[in-house]
Amino acid sequence: MTNQEPHNVHLPVLLEEVLQVLAPTKGDSYLDVTAGYGGHAAEVLKRTQAPEQSVLIDRDENAITELTERFAGSNVTIRRQDFLSAAEQLRSEGRQFDLILADLGVSSPHLNQAERGFAISMSGPLDMRMDQSQDLTAEHIVNTYKKEQLAEILSKYGEEPKANAIAKLIVQNRPHTTTSELAELVGRVWPGHSRVHPATRTFQALRIAVNDELGLLQRSLPVWMDLLAPGGRLAIISFHSLEDRLVKQFFTEHGGDRYDAALTILTKRPLSASATEAVSNPRARSAKLRAAAKIKR
Ligand SMILES: C[S@@+](CC[C@H](N)C(=O)[O-])C[C@H]1O[C@@H](n2cnc3c(N)ncnc32)[C@H](O)[C@@H]1O
Repeated sequence: MTNQEPHNVHLPVLLEEVLQVLAPTKGDSYLDVTAGYGGHAAEVLKRTQAPEQSVLIDRDENAITELTERFAGSNVTIRRQDFLSAAEQLRSEGRQFDLILADLGVSSPHLNQAERGFAISMSGPLDMRMDQSQDLTAEHIVNTYKKEQLAEILSKYGEEPKANAIAKLIVQNRPHTTTSELAELVGRVWPGHSRVHPATRTFQALRIAVNDELGLLQRSLPVWMDLLAPGGRLAIISFHSLEDRLVKQFFTEHGGDRYDAALTILTKRPLSASATEAVSNPRARSAKLRAAAKIKR
């Protein structure tokens, strides 16, 4: 695989469900805060036919290149930014949107390109940055953070039961340069492991820390709510329980039957992939979709 993947390499997850909850109609303005390779955006924009009122955000340079190519000739705005600063900027410009989508986490090209350092199964540099211009990498974390800091990251973001033992081994065996070395090292703490690679939790934890995934999500949720036009709908797809918990908590806090609720929850329980989608797109297996609408006052 190269950096120039065709856009069809990333299959949008829960596409039917996203269209169902967002229910795009002609003239709706759309904000996609994780536009990636444009799979969801293309289908939403086909229905709204209002690209000039729509904005696509991603912080990954390769995704922006693909989006620019895919939507060439359309009037949609494409911005390379993290979704928090993009949302804050749009709010300061006084913008509001009828539809907002956040399809969190990494894309298939992130996972399929060894040089990005996200994959356990391929050897690559310990990078894991979604935004290639960012300074902090996984290599910096594993080679410089104190044992206690590492253990906290592994425990908090990876829910790794053996966080202390892994952190100790990481510190003892420095320096680390490749994903395969790190995966092998973690494997030593979990001999005779099963189907799921024992380093999965460690990789998830490092990825979350490198990209400040939970911090950005938590701070973005209220800004996305502000950006919703009255009656507008917000859909969020998460891929692990830590993210889903933040979304659920936020919806519960701002939704429900209270007199001052700002949101109507559209998904009592999160929607997940059908059996057919789970087979055709394994990345969809852990996806959970929650959606809410902004109450008109
Ligand atoms: C799961 S993919 C989205 C795929 C997209 N829905 C599609 O159909 O092609 C997630 C994308 O969000 C981007 N991303 C993740 N966190 C971000 C953040 N905090 N700010 C901006 N983009 C982010 C990633 O770079 C990645 O391209």
